[in-house]
Amino acid sequence: MTALLSIHDLTVTYRRDGVEVTALKNISLDVAAGESLAVIGESGSGKSTLALAIAGLLPGSARIEGRIAALLQRVELSADLAGRAIHEISGGQRQRVAIARAIATKPSLIVLDEAVSALDVSVRGQILQLLLDLQREERIAYLFISHDLGVIRAIAHRFVILDAGRIAESGNARTVIDAPRSAIGKALVAAAPRLNRTSRQDAS
Ligand SMILES: Nc1ncnc2c1ncn2[C@@H]1O[C@H](COP(=O)(O)OP(=O)(O)OP(=O)(O)O)[C@@H](O)[C@H]1O
Ligand SMILES: [Mg+2]
Repeated sequence: MTALLSIHDLTVTYRRDGVEVTALKNISLDVAAGESLAVIGESGSGKSTLALAIAGLLPGSARIEGRIAALLQRVELSADLAGRAIHEISGGQRQRVAIARAIATKPSLIVLDEAVSALDVSVRGQILQLLLDLQREERIAYLFISHDLGVIRAIAHRFVILDAGRIAESGNARTVIDAPRSAIGKALVAAAPRLNRTSRQDAS
């Protein structure tokens, strides 16, 4: 596999009130062009930290206000938005616009952190189909984070399960989702209400 994205031995530590929190510990993973890699894990396991690290938006690494203003400007939004509280922007609409904007730039990799979670079922289906079509046409890779294993199973080629900042297991749907070996994998799958049995593997 020729890696589009290659992460080797990534450790991320936050400092909060003088206390260090290790959010990611020795993470290594690859994403190939046109591939969807799902990152699964309990709340606080480090999924968003991984997404931010890949996007170069971790606190301290982004040198956080000038870059944010530049990013907002690139998507033709006022830099004033950076100072807005989250409740001052419509949630669902914001996500849809964000996805549309991401797609418009024709990137080689899109990091989607709970990108469809706030959408109602029919809109979610439309957005997922759009993402799948776009991936086929443009060979865009996705790093896809979602709490919804049914959604993840339908969109991802490979899966990584994070547990307290470490990779507990990784592989395809048949191994990681259908027959997880780690305690956390078993717990996550057991907690999912009903899984859509269709996967990317079945289609190929
Ligand atoms: N800005 C921050 N400052 C300090 N600690 C942080 C910060 N962001 C995250 N953390 C801590 O890092 C760990 C991983 O958090 P992260 O947000 O990456 O988890 P997550 O898997 O995305 O969780 P969720 O599913 O709830 O979104 C947690 O212990 C969290 O409290
Ligand atoms: Mg998160």
